[in-house]
Amino acid sequence: MTTNHPGFSTLAIHAGAKPDPATGARATPIYQTTSFVFNDADHAAALFGLKEFGNIYTRIMNPTQAVLEEKVAALEGGTAALAVASGHAAQMLVFHTIMKPGSNFVAAKRLYGGSINQFGHAFKNFGWEVRWADPADPASFAALVDENTQAFFIESLANPGGTFVDIAAIAEVAQAHGLPLIVDNTMASPYLVRPLEHGADIVIHSLTKFLGGHGNSMGGILVDGGTFDWSASGRYPMLSEPRPEYAGLVLHQTFGNFAFAIAARVLGLRDLGPAISPFNAFMILTGIETLPLRMQRHCDNAAAVAQWLKGHDKVSWVNYAGLEDDPNHELQTRYSPKGAGAVFTFGLKGGYEAGKSFVEGLKLFSHLANIGDTRSLVIHPASTTHRQLTAEQQVAAGAGPDVVRLSVGIEDIADIIADLDQSLARIA
Ligand SMILES: Cc1ncc(COP(=O)(O)O)c(C=O)c1O
Repeated sequence: MTTNHPGFSTLAIHAGAKPDPATGARATPIYQTTSFVFNDADHAAALFGLKEFGNIYTRIMNPTQAVLEEKVAALEGGTAALAVASGHAAQMLVFHTIMKPGSNFVAAKRLYGGSINQFGHAFKNFGWEVRWADPADPASFAALVDENTQAFFIESLANPGGTFVDIAAIAEVAQAHGLPLIVDNTMASPYLVRPLEHGADIVIHSLTKFLGGHGNSMGGILVDGGTFDWSASGRYPMLSEPRPEYAGLVLHQTFGNFAFAIAARVLGLRDLGPAISPFNAFMILTGIETLPLRMQRHCDNAAAVAQWLKGHDKVSWVNYAGLEDDPNHELQTRYSPKGAGAVFTFGLKGGYEAGKSFVEGLKLFSHLANIGDTRSLVIHPASTTHRQLTAEQQVAAGAGPDVVRLSVGIEDIADIIADLDQSLARIA
């Protein structure tokens, strides 16, 4: 790199991705191997004892994954990262590192439906309790804290509602209680929002979405902000107490501001196992190189679509923070001045039936359960992604019966609008 402070687009292409030291290959190779040969017995022992960093086995670490980790850590401004098999796997490893049976965390109630399920149901089996707070009201997080609370969790830009959250205000409450703030930055991507700059301590992503960007590979990542003091309260023994697996090593003491990423790797990923395949890491790396271009086009197209839908007589409301009269517009301009993202919801006057008919009539848009693809995507959350939630939870998550969610792609805007127009025209 030629400057001391490379710009975002330069980092997206070059961060972590030097020519391959073994072959000179310029694109990052896919290290499609399960394991790596040790130099000698002492080398093997040093790697296993965390005395030396290096590749042992692809469940724990792999050179293709390592480039992905370095790149995303650079884009988010973190100290280190850990790439895993999916966004959900990243969330599981984050909480595995900080929770104990009987402990709780406070999460925003406006989240991706799958996260609401993971937190509310699957995590219960581990003895971890989630408490739901209102992301528009930082004081509601404080009200739920007790002596067993371990963390706060929010989405920077909530799926599916497309609303921005005042990260700094919630970070302030977290800091006042000595708790880390975890931010899911999937919907915004670091091109739009960098939560660590606003006081977050850990960032997670579903790489499956905008970072990979082409709807072809699953992946997730956690980024260590390096900011949180894991030893101050005694509440995070995995980081602050001697580890029997590693001859009494204390991870926070030994690894300092990247101890969280290390703990998630050597205690979480090693033992729970959701590794990302080197092939998927390669595909996602390739996607990230064009993140700034794609994300800007996503935002510009989504803004044009939102404006157009707002003027349509079959549409009752449009919830897009990029619209000047949107209640969330001030937060959007503060946190995400380059654009309001690609995913947003709107309501059809005809309710549930109109929503179904509209989705079925679209031709360019694909009806499926994903976001952040180059292609334009559509879904009716109440009957799909958010269907396991109660009616109240659906409304709280911004996924009521009349709601349609769009993930606006990067096709020509005239074609996107023409498709929406013809399908809206079909609704009785
Ligand atoms: C905001 C958000 N977070 C996390 C996830 C989970 O990611 P994955 O599907 O990669 O497990 C998703 C998936 O849609 C999501 O939209």
